[in-house]
Amino acid sequence: MKTLIGPFAQALPMDNLPLKGALDDAQLGIVEQAGVLTENGRILQTGTFEELKAGADKIEEIDSPMVLLPGFLDAHTHICFAGSRSQDYAMRVAGKPYLEIAKAGGGIQSTVDKTRCASLEELAAGVSDRALRHLLHGVTTAEVKSGYGLSLEDELKMLRAVRLAGSRSGLDLVPTCLAAHTRPKDFKGNNSVYLDFVVRKILPKVKSENLAGRVDIFTEETAFTVEESRKYLLKARELGFRLTVHGDQFTAGGSTLAAEIGADSVDHLENSGEEEIVRLADSDTVAVALPGASLGLGMDYAPARRLLDAGACVAIASDWNPGSAPMGHLLLQASVLGAAQKLSAAETLAGLTYRAAFALRLDDRGVLASGKLADMQAYPCSDFREILYQQGMLLPERVWKRGFRVK
Ligand code: NIG
Ligand code: FE
Repeated sequence: MKTLIGPFAQALPMDNLPLKGALDDAQLGIVEQAGVLTENGRILQTGTFEELKAGADKIEEIDSPMVLLPGFLDAHTHICFAGSRSQDYAMRVAGKPYLEIAKAGGGIQSTVDKTRCASLEELAAGVSDRALRHLLHGVTTAEVKSGYGLSLEDELKMLRAVRLAGSRSGLDLVPTCLAAHTRPKDFKGNNSVYLDFVVRKILPKVKSENLAGRVDIFTEETAFTVEESRKYLLKARELGFRLTVHGDQFTAGGSTLAAEIGADSVDHLENSGEEEIVRLADSDTVAVALPGASLGLGMDYAPARRLLDAGACVAIASDWNPGSAPMGHLLLQASVLGAAQKLSAAETLAGLTYRAAFALRLDDRGVLASGKLADMQAYPCSDFREILYQQGMLLPERVWKRGFRVK
C-alpha cells in the first residue's frame, strides 16, 4: 500500500548535500507544497504533493501548514543510568570544577555506584522514558552507551537493558560499549590492567551476545591516556568493533588519535585547537559537537564553525547523561550551538540528520530520499527557519518511525 503524506508547506529532503564542510541554506533544495510517498516503512519518493498523487493508494492528509524534515539522530547519549547528580551540578555552578568533583568521589563513579544497584528492569524503564521523550522531540534514532557498570556483570546488564528498552521503544537504539569510561575505584590494578580486562573479559561477551557493535573510550588525562586509548581501540577493532572516542573535552589528544586510526567519530572537542581541526578535516572521522555538555558544565562549545570551514563533517548530539549533560533536549541544544557558533540552519540541520547518520555509519536514514527509512517529523510552521529560531520551544507536531505515525 503506497501512502502519500502531505501536503506540507515545505519539505527539506537533506539529500544530495555534501558530507563534509560548510553549507548554505540556499543549497537545501526545499520542496514547496510537498508530499512524501511511502511504502512498508520506506520512502518511495519526495516531491510536490500534486505530482505524487497519481501513484498513491492512500492519502494521509496534512490539513494545517507544516514543515517536513527527516527524523533526528542523536549519535551520542548515556541515557542508561540510575540516580541523579543534582548535587554535582549545585557544586559546579557554585564554582567547583567537574574533574575535582570526580576526584572527590562524585562524578561518573557516583553514577556507577547507583547503576550497579539498579536492576536490569529499572535501567530499561529509565532508558524507555528518556527514549520516549526523545521520540516526541523528533529523534527517531538514538545511540546509547554503557559505561556506568564498569564490571563484566554491570556492563552487560546495561547493554541488555538498552536492548530491552529498544525492543519496547518506538525508536531505534544503537548500543555502544563504553566499559572504558573510567577505571572503577574498586578495580585492583592500573589503567592498562583494567583495559586488558575489558578486552579479554567484557568485549568478547558483548560480541558473542551481540549487545553492541561499537566501542568508545574516554580519552582524557583523568581517564585514559592517548597511548592507552590507541592500544585499546586497536584491540577492540581486531575483535570486530567499530570505534568512537570521547576526545578533547578538557585536553586535546583524543581527536588526533581518532583521525589517525580512522574512528567513525570523535565527540566533545571543546578543547580542540587548530592542529586538531586540520587533522579532523583531513579525515572521515565525524566531529560530534555536544552542546549539552558545554551547557551542563558551563564550558565553551566545540569549535563547530572552524571545523566546518576547515572541511570537517560536523554532527551535533546531546550527550544526555546524569553528570555533564542532564538536559537531554537535542533541538534546543543544537539551536543554541548554532547561534553561538554562527552555523547556518542548513549546517545545524545537517548535523542532526544525515551527518549524524554518518557518525553512526547508518546509510539508511537521515534523508528523505527513495529507499531510505520513512523516519520523519513535521513542525507546525510554514518556513523551516522557524524551527531553529524558536530554539527548541517549537516541537514537532507529527513524528513517523518507519512510516508509522507515533505522534
Ligand atoms: O560525555 N566525558 C565523559 N563522559 C560523559 C560524562 C559522564 C558523566 O559525567 O556521568 C560525557 O560528558
Ligand atoms: Fe559522553
